[in-house]
Amino acid sequence: MQITLHAPLDMHLHLRDGKMLKTVAPLSAKSFAAAIIMPNLVPPVSTIEEVVAYKKRILAVTEDEGFEPLMTLFFKDTYDFAFLQKAKKHIHAIKLYPAGITTNSEGGVSTIDSDALATTLQAMSDLDIPLLIHGESNGFVMDREKEFIPVYEELSQKFPKLTIIMEHITTKDSVEALHRYPNLYATITLHHLLITLDDVAGGMLQPHLFCKPIAKRPEDQKALLEVALNAHPKVMFGSDSAPHPQSAKESCGCAAGVFTAPIALPVLAQLFEEEGKLENLQAFVSDNAQKIYAYTSPKKEVTLEKKPFLVPKTHGTVVPMYADQEIAWRIKSVSL
Ligand code: NCD
Ligand code: ZN
Repeated sequence: MQITLHAPLDMHLHLRDGKMLKTVAPLSAKSFAAAIIMPNLVPPVSTIEEVVAYKKRILAVTEDEGFEPLMTLFFKDTYDFAFLQKAKKHIHAIKLYPAGITTNSEGGVSTIDSDALATTLQAMSDLDIPLLIHGESNGFVMDREKEFIPVYEELSQKFPKLTIIMEHITTKDSVEALHRYPNLYATITLHHLLITLDDVAGGMLQPHLFCKPIAKRPEDQKALLEVALNAHPKVMFGSDSAPHPQSAKESCGCAAGVFTAPIALPVLAQLFEEEGKLENLQAFVSDNAQKIYAYTSPKKEVTLEKKPFLVPKTHGTVVPMYADQEIAWRIKSVSL
């Protein structure tokens, strides 16, 4: 059995910088036509010069793969219309992090007050720049995403023309909120389709499955699977592949992030096939995103086949999901 995907897209990806960038970027570039690149470097990507330079560094390590890095800026409430007008030709979205909520988000927004942020948000709306949000409060870890929903509701009502993307949703509540407002969309990761909190902490603690937002309950996983497997037009694939060195994961004070880039497409094919929904994978990994972002991807065809593949133990210093385990599908060929 095999499937050919046209221009698979990863709409939420962490590539880091330096040596780590060199290790991980080619793995995504091999199988994806393009990806939305997260700006949470140290310091965060927040000027046009930084966007342009980071894109250049990514292209330098992914040349010949036919991969387009879709750049983002780290949200600042100082961005005004004039700045964003200039930035627009270099970026595809702006990512808003509540301050301190996840890896390298210390420079994020401390209070998400739609009036205080109105100048920037209105300019983004007028310029058709999507707003991507890491939607978590700083409450109890299992309730953070639910507690954030009123913020999404307020923003989507106040800025009805702004495309707002709830990044890496993990709960049934978020799926329900998505249906209530026409300008709300969501990315869904692979790992949140596969695991619940039980897989992370129900037995021996699994640091490589620890991420933000933390995996939730079985009913949440079920709600995510329902919209992803049916390729609901408001959801799209965003891996949130977030590499950290093995030493930072297998340590006291484990860094948050699951590294799925090298296995994302084959395991998606495996999941969609097992659930009898393989025909919906194209929409989930590409078509929906192209519509939501009004983006047309360059041509790239990735053929996956149902043949066992042994996932490497490590890529450089990073341990991928399913390390040293066999998965049922693999990449057969890529053509540009
Ligand atoms: C991400 C990272 O490491 O940059 N970590 C994670 O657990 N997902 C940041 C993020 O997307 O929250
Ligand atoms: Zn992320």
